[in-house]
Parts: sequence; C-alpha cells; structure tokens
Amino acid sequence: MNKNEILKQMTLKEKARLVSGHNFMFTNAIASVGLPAAECSDGPHGLRKQASGGDNGIEKSEPATSFPTSACTACGWDRENLKKVGKAIAQECRSYGVDVLLGPGVNIKRNPRCGRNFEYFSEDPYVAGELGSAFVEGVQGEGVGVSVKHFAANNNEEYRFMGNSVVDERALREIYLRAFEKIVRRTAPASLMCAYNQINGTFCSENAWLLTDVLRKEWGFDGIVMTDWGAVKDRVKGIVAGLDLEMPGDTYCTDEIVKAVREGRLEESALDECVLRMLDFVGKWHHDDKKACDFAAHHALAAEIAKDCAVLLKNEGVLPLDKEKKVLVAGEFFEKMRYQGAGSSMINPAYLTTPRDAFDEKGLPYAYAKGYREQSEAADETLIAEAVKGAKNYDTVLVFAGLSDYAESEGGDRPNMRLPENQLALIDALVAENKEIVVVLFGGSPVEMPFADKVSAILDMYLPGQNGGTATADLLYGDANPSGKLAETWAADYADVPYGGEFARRVNELYKESVFVGYRYYSTYGRNVRYPFGYGLSYTQFAYSDMQVGRCGKEITVQCKVKNVGSRDGAEVVQLYSENPACVLPRPKRELRAFGKVRLRAGEEKEVSLTFSEDDLRVYVPEQKRWALPGGTYRLCVAASSEDIRLADEIAVAGEKIAVDEKRYEAYRNGDAAHISDADFAALLGTSLPEDPSDFPITLETRLDRYQKTPGGKQIYDTLLKVANEMRLRAQSLPDGTEKDNLLKGAMFMTRIMSTNSARSLAMSSGPKLPYEAACAFVNIANGNYNGEARQ
Ligand code: BGC
Repeated sequence: MNKNEILKQMTLKEKARLVSGHNFMFTNAIASVGLPAAECSDGPHGLRKQASGGDNGIEKSEPATSFPTSACTACGWDRENLKKVGKAIAQECRSYGVDVLLGPGVNIKRNPRCGRNFEYFSEDPYVAGELGSAFVEGVQGEGVGVSVKHFAANNNEEYRFMGNSVVDERALREIYLRAFEKIVRRTAPASLMCAYNQINGTFCSENAWLLTDVLRKEWGFDGIVMTDWGAVKDRVKGIVAGLDLEMPGDTYCTDEIVKAVREGRLEESALDECVLRMLDFVGKWHHDDKKACDFAAHHALAAEIAKDCAVLLKNEGVLPLDKEKKVLVAGEFFEKMRYQGAGSSMINPAYLTTPRDAFDEKGLPYAYAKGYREQSEAADETLIAEAVKGAKNYDTVLVFAGLSDYAESEGGDRPNMRLPENQLALIDALVAENKEIVVVLFGGSPVEMPFADKVSAILDMYLPGQNGGTATADLLYGDANPSGKLAETWAADYADVPYGGEFARRVNELYKESVFVGYRYYSTYGRNVRYPFGYGLSYTQFAYSDMQVGRCGKEITVQCKVKNVGSRDGAEVVQLYSENPACVLPRPKRELRAFGKVRLRAGEEKEVSLTFSEDDLRVYVPEQKRWALPGGTYRLCVAASSEDIRLADEIAVAGEKIAVDEKRYEAYRNGDAAHISDADFAALLGTSLPEDPSDFPITLETRLDRYQKTPGGKQIYDTLLKVANEMRLRAQSLPDGTEKDNLLKGAMFMTRIMSTNSARSLAMSSGPKLPYEAACAFVNIANGNYNGEARQ
C-alpha cells in the first residue's frame, strides 16, 4: 500500500496519534494499518538507550560507546573522523534496535558559558555544517535516521525553555541557520528537532517562517520536524506551521488535534501533510531486525579520534615526556577522568580507560597526589599540601584539571569562565615550587587560564570520550602527535566576550553582535585573545609554500604545498579564509571558507587543495530577502589559524552592487559590534525591542524558580525539587564511588532542569505524569488564585 492509500484508511484519531510520541522515545504504532513504532534515542556522542521509556538523562542507560563529544571532534577538523563516529554509533543503534539517533547538535557557540557547548561543534557555521554533514552521512549510511538539533538559535541553557532569541535576519541566515542549511541540502536528514526557544517572538515549534518557508520551501527539506522534548506550545498552530511530531507525547495534544479538526479550527489537510511525512519517516527508518556490533573495536576507535582532536595549547619543549623519567601526577581527573557531558547525552560507557588506567597499562613511572576533589569547589588544603610535598621529589608535574559535571552541564550555563577554585589553588601552589608543570585539561568549553604564562605546557583533551585515558597517555609520551586545532576562540578573560555581562540573564536575549560572532568579532576589531580560532600546536612544524588560485565557473580552488619540516610524523589543519572587500553591509574582516587536514611523515611534503564556491561569499540582504554577492577584490589567506596567515593571494569578484539603507548599519560600521546600543540594535532589526515579561503574575511560561517568591509558588517549587533533593541526600549517605557520583550528578541535573523550566514545558515533557491541567493549577496556586480556570 502506498502512503496515500494508508492515509485514506486512517481515522482522525489515528492520524492525531501518529503525529504524537509515546513512552518518551517512541512514535505511536498504528496497528490497523500495520505501522510499527519507530524508536528514537539520544545522541549525539553515543547511544543513550534506556531500558524502558526515558527520563532525559537521569537514570542509567544500556552500555554503549561514549565517543569524544562534538566540542572535541570539531578540533580534529576531519570529516572522515565524524563519518567513522557516526557509522559506529549507528551500528550500536542497530544492535539495540534504535531507529533514530537524536543528534547531531549543530548550534553555534555564541558564548563560551553556554552549558551545552560541549555538545556543539563550533562558533563557525562552516565548521559545524561540514562536520555535522559528515556525521549525518555516517549515521544514515547505516540505515539509522538522525534528528539534527536544536533548530534554531538555541544558544543558552538558563532560558532555553521559554527564552526569546532576538536576532537580525542576516545573522540568522549567515550564522545561526547556515549549518542546518548545509546539512539539509547535502544529506537529506531524516528529521530536525525544533528548539524550545522563541526566535523574534515566535516559538520554534510554531514558527511557520522557520519550519516551512525557510526549511521546506527554500531548502527543500523533506524529512520530519519533531519537537524537542516538551517544546510544544500550541499544537494546532504547530501543525499549521509544519511541525510534524510532538515529543515525547502522551499529552492532551492528541485529543486537542481531533477536537480542533472537528471544530473547524484545523484543516484536516494540514494534519494529513504531517501524517504523510510521518508515514515516510517510519517506513524508511524503522527496522524490525537487530544487528550485532563490535563494541571493543569502537572503544579503540574512540581513542583514535580523541588523539586526533586534542589541542596542544602550549609547549615550551617539555612535551613529549620521557617514558623513563618518573613524574608527579596531581589532580583527581587523572583517575576520575571527565570524558563526556552531563544531561540527555550522558552515556553509560561500555568500557572506560582513564589516564591512570592507561599509565598503568603502559607501565609509565609516576607518583600520584589527588590534589582536589572534583565533587567540590573549595580548595582542600590537606590535598594541596600532599601534592606540593610530593612535587619536591620530581622535576616535572602533570596537573590534570578542567571542568567537572558540576561546573558544566545541559540545563544551566556556567556562572563564569573559571576553573573550579580548588584546581586553581592547586596549580598556584605547584607553580610556586618552580617545577616544570604540564596542565592536562578536560572540559567542554574554554576556561580562563591565569596560570598560562607560568606553566610549561598545556594539552587540552576537551571531552575525549571513554577511551580518553589512552589518548592522553599516547599524546603526553609522544606515541601520538597532537594535531587538533581550536574550533572556537579562547578569550583570555570573560570580560572580553561581546555582551558577556548580558548573557542569559533574561527572557529576551539580544544578539546585538549580529554576524560578529567568535573570531568574526575578535579579528575584525583587533582584540587580543588567549588562543585564536583555528589554533593548535604540534610536536613537529609545517612549512607552507606555492599558493595558487584557480577558478572554474563559480568554483574557486586554492592549492599550496605543506611540508613537515620537523622530525616527527604529524598532521596539519590547513585553513582558508577570505578577507572581504568593503561593502555597504558591515562584514567580518576574515571568514573561513574551506579547510583540510593533511597527514605528513617527517620530511614529507604534500599538495593541499581547498575549494569553495563564489556563492559562499554572498551576504544576506534582509531588506531584499535574498543573498547577494558583493563585488571587489577578496584576499584569500591560507592559514594555520585565524590569526596566523601563511600565504595570501587575491581574486577579483565581479559581484553586484547592493543597495541598502546604510543608516541601519552605521553603528556597526563606525563603532564596535560589542558596544551597540539598544536603539542601534532596534534599527538593525527594523523593529522595536521586545519588553521582558514580568515575573508576576506567574504564567505558564514563567521560570519555575521564580515561583519561590509567592507562598503557594514556593510550596510547588519545593515539591518539584523534592525528588532531586532526596536523590542528593541518598547520594551523600553513600561511600565514595560511581554510584554516589551518578546520583549526585543526576540530582544536580534535575535541579537545573526544574529551576529553569516552565510549567508548560514541564507538563509537555512529562506525559501522563504531569498533565497540562496540573501545570495550570500550579500557575493558579502560585498566583494565590485558588479558584482559577483549570485551563489557560
Ligand atoms: C534535549 C534534547 C534531547 C531530548 C531527549 C531534551 O531535553 O534538549 O537534546 O534529545 O531532551 O532526551
């Protein structure tokens, strides 16, 4: 039977069920037409398949490979790596019977404090789009669907459930939507997951401009759009806007759809369009069979990828270390490696090799001092004193440091860019001993490093996955040569980050920097940073020569030679930037156009070829709702980082003359994009700025932690936090160990989710456990309105 015939046989109720999820991770099976349920699972760095249903990352899941997270894999700048990881994860999906993987996450890292940056690739849309596409190809090539998330402009966690991203259309098109666009056009992903937040006043789940005009009509997307878990606001508006599947479902929405059709509030034909897409989706991606896969091989692959992605930030000749020479290792991450992020992407690793395991397996000589406890922030003077005492016997001290799950996770943004105080105190105390100090960092985002000038080397492993220990040992001792480069800028001080002080403080998040995100800001305005975008060292050196620029139609190809002029085999990430000519629209000075990774034996030379299309040089002209190519002379730069140009040449581009209202852009042209006034931003937007909703009266969209300010609200809030608090207490009564750690992390995650959630989104993500009526009752009680309407 073809899908149109199936559709004809379905009742209205069945149609409504098919566009609604069930039991947290499934679509509804429709028995009368023989349609099975498709199973989804997080995603994105490995499989988080829960035994039954799911809970957004609190309880343990089935064992699976925890691969390096996207923040880490991005630093490898290698499309093949992402393909391999995608393929391996898909094989694990097939082995557990999972049909759709919830990932990749391709949001732009707008601010380094976003708690979920570990799950995203880059501040640059080209990198995110290229690597995201490779990952999707790897997954879908094995017959498993993806859900590319979170569509779109979902760039903070504190207000992710109700926040409003206020962004000018040009920045949306050139920065925030671009990776999604590339993935959609190039890979035909099975689905996209729409984000919780609003864009310019409209929730993504009912945003017809986003879900239909741009996604389907312009980009030609033919998969389904599912909501993020609980992101439905008005289901009927959603269907009209092109939202196919409500997840996790089991809410009143199924009945609401039926009612809306019967009452004439929803055209059945609009529902049918979603149903047809759902029929395609389940038909294409569901499998009845399971296939075994090789988890041990994936463990080895996880180490290979992690080795290829770690970034050597500093090295004054101390690395690689001598395998015969005993060192002191300090820092609890050595034995309790932070290798993945916390929240819905947390995996129960099939294997785990910490740095300590790897040092032991390799028989490396070391003494160990804990130095700090990852579970707390406050400096532990006893542990520090032990480390300092130990250090006296060695020339070299390795300090394992970084962000713990408490410092960084889904559901909340970091309060600052600092390392936990206990680690800073440890590093300071060791620095005072005048030793050669090597800092090995773990974490999903940049940190301030007040110690950077005082230590001899810094190796950043990011979040390297379950076999990160092997990768770390191999890199430190020279069995592998670091070749990762940063896919995001490391500001020296959080104060240097544009609008850092305004980040994630209220519902309306003003994206005043417009297109000047990350290095696009720092390089244009000549600001110093700790480490620029694209930066990373190696144990060898590379020489660049013989640049040539060729053209074939719209395609521009840059070739050059890269030679490994050092004594070790290594790999170099070669980057191509364009420097843009003056244009009526203010443009970043430099933008990445292509990259390639070249692997070279010591002394070897290879030709590197980088290609891009003239179309990539276009700008989006919001006044005319179209892309346009500014003409002029473009300087093409072959570079080792965004600030390390090795070769350059020019090309003339005919382009076109673009007419815009220049006044609109004056502030960006004459001033600094990090100091735009509200009035100038409003001029750029072409509308007035939205007012922030007041916390009172409380509504279905109010953050739950605001409830504490009324007596009734406080009772509700305390009740909602009870489970998390009980978990925490239970954890505190346990002896140190994995069970305690997992409970503590679960409790913290739950607290973050509860406090930042809204009653509406909480109800929509809780299925039958918390009906919508209960959310409405919360609002009434919190407002002291005990006789309020059941529904709002
Ligand atoms: C997260 C998604 C995730 C989903 C299912 C949501 O809270 O934002 O990324 O896929 O939960 O666990």
